Amino acid sequence: MLPAIHDTGTGEAVLFLHAFTMDASQWDHQVAALSGDMRCVRVDLWGCGASPPPPAGAPSLDTFAAAVLEALDSRDIKRFAVVGLSMGGYLAFALWRLAPERIRALALCNTRAAADAPGPRDDRLAMADLVEREQSVEPIIEPMVARLLSADAQAEAHIVDPVRGRIRRCTPAGIAFAQRAIASRPDNTPLLGSINVPTLVIAGTQDAIVGPTEVRAIADTIPDARHVELDCGHLSNLELPRPVNEQLAALLTPATMAS
Ligand code: MLT
Repeated sequence: MLPAIHDTGTGEAVLFLHAFTMDASQWDHQVAALSGDMRCVRVDLWGCGASPPPPAGAPSLDTFAAAVLEALDSRDIKRFAVVGLSMGGYLAFALWRLAPERIRALALCNTRAAADAPGPRDDRLAMADLVEREQSVEPIIEPMVARLLSADAQAEAHIVDPVRGRIRRCTPAGIAFAQRAIASRPDNTPLLGSINVPTLVIAGTQDAIVGPTEVRAIADTIPDARHVELDCGHLSNLELPRPVNEQLAALLTPATMAS
């Protein structure tokens, strides 16, 4: 089943991959800034945003990444840059494993390369069970908001209200699929040394999900990655859209996109 695609602008293609419990609209600020010069392609994870429900079978980010490649094929998009935040970063690693020759540049925001430790993995599986049992995402909304946003951003209605809205638009099946798929992802650390395209790595100093030290280690391991630390929480692109847009524009130059 192909995921929903939101395709805005013309030019070289940039694929945006959203975080867990978010959807393509997480990237509205970036599309507003960049779609004058680029083709901004956003997908919604199955069960989130406008995508159909997850397919049957073992939940896997690789399965979703393969469906994203198929959706890009259906629009004749052969090569593209990838911007992924957190779960979107895990998907970017999956795409790098599946089709590195198609990727021109990478932006890895607030994400981790390592697989889950047993404790956090159990917490994910418990959340998947909870939303299925309750047939509702309501019980996870406030706990997720507290993890996703810095204290300052939680006090800003224009940031926090859309975050709540996106979580509410995910279905219990979408949340359960995502958590089980994330829990089963491999350790992507061995991939880092093979990343040979222009890469930007963004960290948030107040990120409660992936701390800045862990993000710096990713940047230090990828040859020639540019590392940027911003004073924000996990959803850096929503809390500080302007510096994130500036960094993306510097990464996605005509020279990079022509390569
Ligand atoms: C995300 O923001 O995508 C998730 O919090 C990632 C995670 O739970 O590892």
